[in-house]
Amino acid sequence: MAAKVIAFINYKGGVAKTTTTYHVGCSLAQHFMKKVLLVDIDPQTNLTFLCASIPEWEEFKKKHGTIANMYHRFAAKKAVDTKRFIWRQPVGSAIKHRIPTLDLIPCDIDLLGEDLGGSSVTGSFPSLELLRQQSKAYLRERSFLRQALKEVENDYDYILIDCPPNLYLMTQNALTAARWYVVTAIPDHLSTIGLNILQRKVRNIGELVKSAMTFAGYKTPMDVAQIGGIIFVRVRLGGSVITNVHQSTMIQVDAEQGKGLCFPERTTELIGYGEAAEQSLPVWMTATPNAKRAASYGEYEHITKEFIRRF
Ligand SMILES: Nc1ncnc2c1ncn2[C@@H]1O[C@H](COP(=O)(O)OP(=O)(O)OP(=O)(O)O)[C@@H](O)[C@H]1O
Ligand SMILES: [Mg+2]
Repeated sequence: MAAKVIAFINYKGGVAKTTTTYHVGCSLAQHFMKKVLLVDIDPQTNLTFLCASIPEWEEFKKKHGTIANMYHRFAAKKAVDTKRFIWRQPVGSAIKHRIPTLDLIPCDIDLLGEDLGGSSVTGSFPSLELLRQQSKAYLRERSFLRQALKEVENDYDYILIDCPPNLYLMTQNALTAARWYVVTAIPDHLSTIGLNILQRKVRNIGELVKSAMTFAGYKTPMDVAQIGGIIFVRVRLGGSVITNVHQSTMIQVDAEQGKGLCFPERTTELIGYGEAAEQSLPVWMTATPNAKRAASYGEYEHITKEFIRRF
């Protein structure tokens, strides 16, 4: 069966998209015996550095390349050859305790310029032929990841894509490659007012893709991802209870969004996550007292269990 492809998105920065993609991916592989491919499309390269150290990444990049090279191959109309760029078992190599069924397509800063691309807007109404050509180009710009992941979809149970904090070209690529998208959000006012806007924008992206398909005369179905859930992260605790503000925001968002969209499981604000990130390991493989404390709550295991139930 082909892998289930899920994108983690939010145009808001610092809302634990990467931490969640990483921990859910590691948990799927380590606790639930799933074959997982993590895909880093954020030029900040954070997911890559959660998996491995900078020197290890430099070595891999020198030998094999990154998603930026894959994109350049696609742009030059060569076969992407995705398998060549997959980093096998990157997590835990430093402590010789790898996660055997977790692979990564690493990113690098070179992908940054690619996000500035887009179709130009002409002043006059284009001819039908021009419209057809522009629509084809529009779809092609958004189908890099979809095409690249098709090459390896039978090798994995799950493919998880960590998106940058925007909805530009690479995120649009993720949305046309994925069947679902998951949003992470901190349950405070400013972080949650954008949830409806985000869903509307994704729907708009889908409508543009559909229009382009009509004009291009495309036969292969190409759709954008559907929302699969909202995960609350970094929930603030006062002692052992959730602070009033965060609790009431979660209740309000849950009621507003309806359809059980919000995951009942969440992560709380814990120093251990930052410490684990410094060691390029998930919290449950990190030996510091704070990480051990974070691991003892099993927050990401619970989220992952729900993730498997949904997808
Ligand atoms: N539950 C948590 N408790 C405390 N710190 C956390 C928690 N989850 C994530 N963090 C920290 O919050 C910071 C931002 O997390 P992360 O990089 O995952 O967010 P992001 O949404 O991917 O950011 P960006 O938009 O820049 O890609 C990181 O330093 C991370 O270690
Ligand atoms: Mg990130």
